[in-house]
Amino acid sequence: MIKVITYGTFDTLHYGHILLLQRARALGDHLTVALSSDDFNATKGKASHFDYATRYALLTELRCVNMIIPEDTWEQKRHDVAAHSIDVFTMGSDWDGRFDFLSDLCRVVYLPRTPRISSTAIKHIHTTQTG
Ligand code: CTP
Repeated sequence: MIKVITYGTFDTLHYGHILLLQRARALGDHLTVALSSDDFNATKGKASHFDYATRYALLTELRCVNMIIPEDTWEQKRHDVAAHSIDVFTMGSDWDGRFDFLSDLCRVVYLPRTPRISSTAIKHIHTTQTG
């Protein structure tokens, strides 16, 4: 079984996320999503619209997602790859090259980002429409 992992906040789950997750899953047979915790987002200066429990609940509804673990630190990736016997680490192309340091442990793949959609854009539309 080929095991794949990806990381992210996945706030206001949108079709760019779903296309990323489908392509990530297609790189193997089993997809783990490391979902950024609310505390980790706070350390990044990022506040999600939906909290961890809600973002988790939405991801569990997707057929392409097999397992969800929390992402609490930047440094946990090497540990996760080893602990979950990961074969492929993947992220969208906005992270191009940033995780090449994992390539001694597993394959590292950057998938093209879907244009013209982001959590930031959705939150901006929501804010401008609701005031
Ligand atoms: N992603 C993608 N295409 C998009 C948006 C996101 O492929 N249009 C990917 C990212 O590259 C990342 C994953 O989805 O691998 C999770 O991204 P995340 O940062 O949670 O989503 P964004 O919509 O980019 O959020 P933000 O606007 O807060 O940066």
